[in-house]
Amino acid sequence: MAQEVRGVIAPGKNEPVRVETIVIPDPGPGEAVVQVQACGVCHTDLHYKQGGINDEFPFLLGHEAAGIVEAVGEGVSDVAPGDFVVLNWRAVCGSCRACRRGRPWYCFATHNAGQKMTLAATGQELSPALGIGAFAEKTLVAAGQCTKVDPAASPAVAGLLGCGVMAGIGAAINTGNVGRGDSVAVIGCGGVGDAAIVGSRLAGASLIIAVDIDDAKLNTAKRLGASHAVNSTHTDPVAAIRELTGGFGADVVIEAVGRPETYEQAFYARDLAGTVVLVGVPTPEMKLELPLLDVFGRGGALKSSWYGDCLPSRDFPMLIDLYLQGRLDLKSFVTETIALDEVEQGFERMHRGDVLRSVVLF
Ligand code: APR
Ligand code: ZN
Ligand code: ZN
Repeated sequence: MAQEVRGVIAPGKNEPVRVETIVIPDPGPGEAVVQVQACGVCHTDLHYKQGGINDEFPFLLGHEAAGIVEAVGEGVSDVAPGDFVVLNWRAVCGSCRACRRGRPWYCFATHNAGQKMTLAATGQELSPALGIGAFAEKTLVAAGQCTKVDPAASPAVAGLLGCGVMAGIGAAINTGNVGRGDSVAVIGCGGVGDAAIVGSRLAGASLIIAVDIDDAKLNTAKRLGASHAVNSTHTDPVAAIRELTGGFGADVVIEAVGRPETYEQAFYARDLAGTVVLVGVPTPEMKLELPLLDVFGRGGALKSSWYGDCLPSRDFPMLIDLYLQGRLDLKSFVTETIALDEVEQGFERMHRGDVLRSVVLF
């Protein structure tokens, strides 16, 4: 039986979000209904709220979530009712060229739910942002978007892995391949950069240099494990990183801002044959000019990192286990928990940069 729940919708361009009654259909083949327990507020939600999904409104928001599977449709065998799961917006298909070649994080088959949730008042169809729509008491997803993790973890913490925190940790451990004894520089210490710091520490980096233009952000970065902090408003970050690494540059530089000047800093702050990991998302008009002789002469690798190049079925349970063993600080990323009708205030706080994550608890 289809059921009615409360969910947050973005009603129109730059309009505040609001809570509405939405209708969740029964799960069809390959789908699952999940009772959402926690969902974090992410920058991507804000972008969608401002610009729509291809300029179309209304739609459902929320995608960094964890909850309990309530019901599954035909043919679903990997998850069952009662399972504690983290939702992901990139369910891999297993059969496309990227998947077959062992790069499932570049799987571009979209495995979201086929059926639509609707607005109870009008019957209007609601697209869920990133195929999840988890600022709602329940949501309908593809079963492949659900990854079982240890239920001993709190939902607020588990849900973090659904997006930004996984992107940062994965940039360090998957894309950057940070290893024991490495020196790492992280440029931009918001939620994603801080997660890269935590990931680098987990991987055994011996030196972690945090770079930001905001001292408050740098203090948080140090609390999370950065060994050095550089405020690039008044210090040249490339020179500072070189100096802190004995004149060489860092083995791995992780860029988590998404601007040409910080891409350039990342390029020059790495050691010869070092790796630059680009996580910050640039806008379409941004360009970067580099002398080809430097590109050639410095060697190493320039890599971009998508969703932390993660494999949810491998990475989510592993990171939750490390968290439960006390080896990975995820809890610090939950700055505050809020109620469903406070999502708009959560956006405002995120926009001001006051929080790492505001997480809606149900
Ligand atoms: N140099 C250094 N740090 C900077 C600069 C700069 N020129 N400009 C901004 N910053 C810092 C901000 O002070 C802030 O701490 O970068 C950080 C960005 O953090 P957030 O805005 O919280 O963004 P976050 O969620 O961490 O995402 C960062 O990664 O996944 C991408 O789309 C995401 O492009 C975004 C980036
Ligand atoms: Zn695929
Ligand atoms: Zn997100």
